[in-house]
Order: sequence, then C-alpha cells, then structure tokens
Amino acid sequence: MDTTGCSHHLSYADWSLSETQFDPNQLHSRETVFTIGNGYLGTRGSFEEGYPHALPATFIRGVYDEVPIVYTELANCPDWLSFTITADGERFRLDRGEILSYERQLDLHWGILNRRVRWRSPNGKTLDLDFQRFASLADEHVLGIRCQLTPVDCDSLIEIQASINGYPENQGFDHWEWLDQGKTDRGIWLQVHTRTSRIELGMASGMTVSGAEALLQVTSVPGYPTLTTTFLAAVEKTVTLEKVVTVFTSREVEAPVQAAQVKLAQLPAYSVLLTAHEQAWDEIWQKSDVVVEGDTKAQLAIRYNLFQLLISASRHDKRVSIPAKTLSGFGYRGHIFWDTEIFILPFFTFTQPEIARNLLTYRCHTLNGARRKAAFYGYKGAMFAWESADTGDEVTPRWALPNQPYGEEVRIWCRDREIHISSDIAYAVWYYWQATGDDEWMRDCGAEIILDTAIFWMSRVEWNTQQERYEIREVIGADEYHEQVNNNALTNRMVQWHLEKAIYVFDWLSNRFADRAAELKQKLHLTSERCRRCQDIVTNLWIPYDPTTRLIEQFEGFFNLEDINLDDYEPRTRSMQALLSIDGANKRQVLKQPDVLMLLYLMRGVGEFPYSQEVLLKNWGYYAPRTDITYGSSLGPAIHSILASDLGASAEAYERFMQAALVDLEDVRGNAADGIHGASAGGVWQAVVLGFGGIHLAGDEPVANPHLPSGWMRLHFKLHWHGKWHEFDLRPIS
Ligand code: BGC
Repeated sequence: MDTTGCSHHLSYADWSLSETQFDPNQLHSRETVFTIGNGYLGTRGSFEEGYPHALPATFIRGVYDEVPIVYTELANCPDWLSFTITADGERFRLDRGEILSYERQLDLHWGILNRRVRWRSPNGKTLDLDFQRFASLADEHVLGIRCQLTPVDCDSLIEIQASINGYPENQGFDHWEWLDQGKTDRGIWLQVHTRTSRIELGMASGMTVSGAEALLQVTSVPGYPTLTTTFLAAVEKTVTLEKVVTVFTSREVEAPVQAAQVKLAQLPAYSVLLTAHEQAWDEIWQKSDVVVEGDTKAQLAIRYNLFQLLISASRHDKRVSIPAKTLSGFGYRGHIFWDTEIFILPFFTFTQPEIARNLLTYRCHTLNGARRKAAFYGYKGAMFAWESADTGDEVTPRWALPNQPYGEEVRIWCRDREIHISSDIAYAVWYYWQATGDDEWMRDCGAEIILDTAIFWMSRVEWNTQQERYEIREVIGADEYHEQVNNNALTNRMVQWHLEKAIYVFDWLSNRFADRAAELKQKLHLTSERCRRCQDIVTNLWIPYDPTTRLIEQFEGFFNLEDINLDDYEPRTRSMQALLSIDGANKRQVLKQPDVLMLLYLMRGVGEFPYSQEVLLKNWGYYAPRTDITYGSSLGPAIHSILASDLGASAEAYERFMQAALVDLEDVRGNAADGIHGASAGGVWQAVVLGFGGIHLAGDEPVANPHLPSGWMRLHFKLHWHGKWHEFDLRPIS
C-alpha cells in the first residue's frame, strides 16, 4: 500500500488513516477524528476501556431533548462501547502502566476502526490487545466490537466486563431516565427515555468468548447492565471476545426494547455481520468515491471527509438532517444550519440523490416551525430557523454566556437577522431538482418550500419611496463580523433569484400538476395580486453592484468603513474578531468568511448573473485579501479554493483546499474536539469536483474543464445527473 506523509502522529494511505502514537493532549480531537457511524448513529472514537476526562458519545439521529439556554440538543445516548479488562487484578487503561506499541487505524473503505496496543501493566505483565469496532451499514441497528487479547510473557487471569452504560452525559447534563433493564438467553438489555421529549430507547447486547474456557454472567447495577466473564488466558494464546449490540428508539418502532431483544436473538455470527457491513460500504463507494493519483495525503483527506459525511446522513429517515458537527461531537448541540444545504448537499445530490432528497424533505417536515418563526416576527409565509432541530422552530441561543465571573454575555443576533438561510434552502431545492429532474418530489415538497419562503420575503422586503426600490434592512450576511447591515448583496441577490424561481415553479406546477397548484394556491393564498407583487420585487429589489467598477458592495456602506490590511496583524493565532472585538470588526472592512464571493460562487452554480470571469476577478481582488480565511469561519477555505481554481490561481486553490481537507485530521483550527466540520467536508467535495474538476453545466449536462493541482496524475469521480451516471477520468495535459 502506498503510504506517505506523517505528521501529528498520523500516517496517510489511500484508504486508511493511522495514528501511530497516543498523545493524551489530543484525546478529545482524536475522539472526533476516529468517529464511526452508519447514518443512524455516530460514535466518537473514545476508548472502550475508558480514559480520564474522555468525552465518549453516541448520537442517534433525531434524538433531541430539551436543555436550558440552547433549547434543545442531541442527547448523548447510552454508551455501547464500555468494555473493561482486568488482568491479574490490574485494570487495563492507557494512563496506567506503559504503552509499548500503539496504532489506531480507521479503514475508510470498510468502515472499520481498529486499535492495536502492546501494554505493560504497572506490575510488569505484558498484554497484546487488538480492538475492532463497526456500526453496521447493512443493518443500522447493529453494532459490533471485537477484542483479541494475548498475554505476552505468562498466563494471565482475565476479567472482562462488557456493559451498556446508561449514564451518558452531555457535558454534565444527563438526558435519560432509567425505566428497566434485564437479561435474556442472548445477553442484557436496557430501557431508558429522554427526560422531556420522552423518546424511548432500547439497547441489548450479547457477547461470545473463544480461545478460553469462560462462562458469562450478568451483573445488574441499575442503569449499567453488564456481561462479566473470567478466564485463564495462556501465554501467547489469543482469546477473542465479540460484543454485539442492537439499538432502537421510539422514533422508529413502538416498542424499542423488544425490537432490540428480538434483533439480538436473531443476529448471525460477528463475522457474518462484518461481511454484510463491508459489502454495504463497497456499494456506497462505487457511487461516491473520488480517486486521486499522485497525492496520497489529498486522496486520504478527501475520502476521510466523504466518509464523515456518509456516516452522518440518514438513508431511512426523512425527518432529520445533518447537524453542523455531524453526529460526532457536542459542538452546536446537534443543530442544523445552512451548512447542510449549501455545503454538504451537492455531494449527495450528485452521488446519492435519495439521501439528498431525505435531507431536503426534512425542511418540508419543518415548514410549520418556519411558519411559526415568521409569525413570531410579524411576517407571513415560512422563515426558516438559522439553527434548526426536530420541529424547525428557531433554536439559536439568544445569548452566549461568559465563562468567567465578570465576563459579559453576548447577544447572538443570527436568530433574528441571518435570514439568507430561507433562500439558501430554496436554492438547494432548485439545484436538487435541476440535477435529478425529480418532478414528483418537487410537486409534493420542493414547490411548497420555495413558495412559502417566497411569501416570507414578500412580507420582509421594504419599499424605499425616496429611492424607489425594494430593500432588505437589518440583516447579517454570510460574513458574521458585520451584525446589522442594510442591503447585503448576498441576501438581496439570493432573494431576487429566489422570487424569480418561485414564479417559474408556480407556472410549472400549474401546467404540469394543476391539482397540486390549486391546492397550494389555496393553502398559501397565492393570489394574482401576490404574484404581481412578486414580479415587481424581482424587478426592483436593489443589488449594490456598480457596473462601471464591476464591484459588488458587500452591503450598503461597506466601502465607507475603515479599511484594513490583514498583513499588519501577522503573525497571529486568533480571529480578527477576537483581536479587534465585536465592535472593532463591525467597523472595519474585514470579513469572517466569503460573502460577495459566496454569492458569485452560488450564481456560478446555477449559471446566473452576476457571475462572469471579469466580475469574479475584480471582486476576488477586493474581497479575498480582506477575508480572515485562516482564523475566521471554517466554511471559507473550500469556497476560496473553488474560485481560485476558476481564476487559474492553482497554488492558492490547493492551499485553501488542504486547509479545508485537514481541518479535523490535523486540527487546523484547534476545535476538532467539538466535532467534525461538516460544511468544510462538503466543501472539500465541491472544491475537488467543481473546482479542480471544473464541472460546469453545458447543454444541460455536466462537463469538465479541469484545473488539476500540480502533481495530480489522475482525478476520477462519478456524477449522477437525471438518472444517468457520468464518469469523469481526468488527467493532466502533458
Ligand atoms: C459560521 C456560519 C456557520 C456556523 C455553523 C459559523 O461560525 O459563520 O456560517 O453556519 O458557524 O457551522
């Protein structure tokens, strides 16, 4: 296998990521990096045997529960990993004794996490331990752990406790109430429910031992059912323990604990489960893989990011979406942002369209929450939440609380003002429809999303009588360093585009599906007066664009703010907002992330004005140097990479791409511990396929205009377009 690159004690091969040394300072970030999952749940890479201050977590899609200040969060679910090993009275843990050798390896092709440790106990006995775990992609309610244990220097009396830990915490908060637990012929089970949302969860577990004479016993501490076994392990003889776990919640079945028990009773051997799981991964990669030759680090990093997206996307549930930190960490509490529609969705739309449809259908199911939000703010139609969870109601916290006694609370305005999300969702709906031609979904779900959010905009825009134009005031654009601006170009142009498409979609619906059009006309009050006004707004909504300079002003007055040269602040390790304060950044021409450039990127995707090479060049020249690309938002680098590719700035395109691709692997921003940066992962796919691959739509088909980074000998991927696969096998021009 081609193995190159070694940094941060990580080594990269085409399909596998290996950590060659355990560093306790990276405990939490590596728990994130080694997350596994199957779209139903995600489990952080915490050690089976535990570690002081570890943050183990398993998040199951849609299992939200109430919590103070941030309203609702994904509840950390009972821990299925728990597996303690005691050898001759000494408990195995990496903070004790001595680690003689260590390797943790994530196999992306087969979705398996392995760990091999040679450990010397404090009393000097040596053990080889080989762990393997997977969350089955073939049957998402099934999980497996295998532990192979070999005494190295003498026989050893081993005790194993394989448990379900019913006391998981969300950073000090316990969401679960114990209901019951017990044992069956095959093992143990636990029944719990969340405190407020009353979601019931049933988990069951069994274990087999081979290679030693061992009897299993059940011990029953409340909330902690455990399978215990004691055996004599002979020197240099390997004993294999296989723990299987089944899990259901009341979101999928009426009686989760019975479902978990029945499934456990029917499970075939561990090896059979593993083979089915591997086959499922193989099928996924046949559609979604991206092959790079000539750059192993980039190859691994791309597959790693795609793997993390694939394990957080639901194949079977249309009422959930992908949280900003996927199902891998406590950051953003499992809330869902524009990250999903704008950054993550294209990967699914083009390689796994049925998953893209599920993700968008979540927005259809949460329309009523968006309607409640619009009504609360005094508007009509549907206004999507900046942060959304299970119901679609706004869950962005109002305040960020200080963590020092005399610190100030900070008001978070995104819930009130970062409203471009409604058009971002409409954009994703349109994009999905264009790529798939899925008219039925458009009829049943997409049209209602586009139309009811258009109605919101029609009540949100204001007519400026002096200037005789429509305006949108008091918003936050993508660049959150400016918290209260008028006529943000990104927002205004997206709204104009959105309303134009709303008119188109309603006409299309009326022609193709007259009954559905009539139903929506009545439900959403789509009067002819409303349609006329919609057209009037499209014509007269102001976009701050100067055709002579070809510069788009980020918002009204941006060019009058104090200018800034970011080089003057180097070297630095903090964001410009942290350096200048919230107020200081607000008053200067410094951006947290692309805003005008984001707009140009989005308009490029659908082939719309003002995207043109010349406009891009001018605005890139203005905004890229003023963007806090390294310490601002993690959403920025991938977008900059694509635009740099478009402009032929190949070295910059590659640098930004790697910044995005390694954000979690090498903890580029120092916050990987909070969870995977999902938007950046989606951006990585876009940077490779749309940036380096240069995919554009021509004659209604995707065509490539590649700009491969130097050293890349091949870039291969597939795109699904209107029911047909298009294969791209790109090589450098020699
Ligand atoms: C970014 C937003 C993003 C959010 C969640 C913020 O820091 O500015 O654009 O949606 O993080 O990733």
